[in-house]
Amino acid sequence: MSSKKLYIETYGCQMNFSDSEVVASILSSDGYSLTADIKEADVIFVNTCSIRDNAERRVRNRIQEFKSLKSRKPGLKVGILGCMAERLSDTLLKEETFVDIVAGPDAYRDLPSLIEESITDGRQMANTVLSLEETYADINPVRLDKNGISAFISIMRGCDNYCAYCVVPFTRGHERSREPKSILNEAKDLLDKGYKEITLLGQNVNSYSFKEGDHSVNFALLLQKVAGLSPELRIRFSTSHPKDISDELIETIASTNNICNSIHLPVQSGSTTTLSRMKRSYTREWYLNRINKIKSLIPDCGLSTDIIAGYCGETDEEHQETLSLMKEVGYDYAFMFKYSERPDTLAARKYPDDVPEDIKGRRLQEIIQLQQESSHKNNRNDIGKTFRVLVDNVSKRSDKQMSGRTDQNKVIVFDRKDCTLGDYINVKCTSCTAATLLGEIV
Ligand code: SAH
Ligand code: SF4
Ligand code: F3S
Repeated sequence: MSSKKLYIETYGCQMNFSDSEVVASILSSDGYSLTADIKEADVIFVNTCSIRDNAERRVRNRIQEFKSLKSRKPGLKVGILGCMAERLSDTLLKEETFVDIVAGPDAYRDLPSLIEESITDGRQMANTVLSLEETYADINPVRLDKNGISAFISIMRGCDNYCAYCVVPFTRGHERSREPKSILNEAKDLLDKGYKEITLLGQNVNSYSFKEGDHSVNFALLLQKVAGLSPELRIRFSTSHPKDISDELIETIASTNNICNSIHLPVQSGSTTTLSRMKRSYTREWYLNRINKIKSLIPDCGLSTDIIAGYCGETDEEHQETLSLMKEVGYDYAFMFKYSERPDTLAARKYPDDVPEDIKGRRLQEIIQLQQESSHKNNRNDIGKTFRVLVDNVSKRSDKQMSGRTDQNKVIVFDRKDCTLGDYINVKCTSCTAATLLGEIV
């Protein structure tokens, strides 16, 4: 019997990729099978991102291609999911008349009936209701990443921080944590299926808190519970907010072998005055104090960050403070962006987007350049060291080479010898570029 076919394309953050796995699961319970061939699809879903203007523009361009697919295949349904669906909803339906379904991040259980009604009525359907409870806890995601080694588990949804520049609280709704039991069950299930690495996900993963009777489970405790399932399982997590990187959490990471020594801690800016206009709720000094605590308890910890260049009102002095903070921390990796004004955010309402485009661009270049140097320097320091590596990839250049990641989340490439995907092996770093380590199995 031929089943109905779903094609799904995902943009944005890891949470969106994890949500697509929830969507795939909901639709497979409704009789759909996944296809990687868009021409075969009966339903096309695009899971979208609103974080910056260019993320939205990319999707707007991409979906135009579905218009012609629809004209060739009349029954085809096109659905826009995720953050753009939530943010634009009716506008999207009005401007993109070929779109059949719009569903926000908390409305995915409703997708089978939205499709059904769109088929029977021929009307455009939308559900963008945000929820205070939805965590999709009972849904066993269909793993779209087929390597069978590494998987994501969403442990919380939403965000209540309302950083002035950010659209996420509007598109994802209030922060809510998922029941620990369902997280542990999902992790056990992955372990039974042979997975070796689990990344716990949330917009502020370390703000996790679940009330059980008269006590509550915080993130440090949850991490311990997941890590306790098996010493063979590596645990990662993303993204941490600096305000909740407690001593207890750092001590837990330091003392638990299979919680990876790698922390992604977005700073956004190195200037306290900029941070205050961003409503980030910490100062430069607070952030550096947390970094020093991490460095003292976990000396080999991998550190990465997010940085925004040219935020509203940013002076050259403030920009210099970002550069000096970067030098002081010495990040291994950074995601770096030009500020992009998002409609309806506090920044859009309160502060003019007043750093000229060429200055924004120049500042971003300086940040990228400095990060490049810092990554290269840190990688050079790894030469001669031996790392425990989880093999997760065959090299793109040659099938005689494989790659994996160190505890610190760095990619290392080596000659495969007789190792296979999913093995833990020891690799000695022999050389590097700014982006990767090269080594040999020892
Ligand atoms: N919840 C995470 C990150 C969310 S979005 C956190 O708080 O750290 C990922 C990154 O996108 C942010 O860390 C920020 O650096 C960037 N970003 C968010 N809004 C932006 C905007 N309006 N313009 C440019 N970059 C933005
Ligand atoms: Fe956005 Fe701030 Fe929430 Fe991160 S913490 S998702 S930057 S509002
Ligand atoms: Fe983008 Fe939404 Fe994630 S705006 S970054 S997909 S939470």
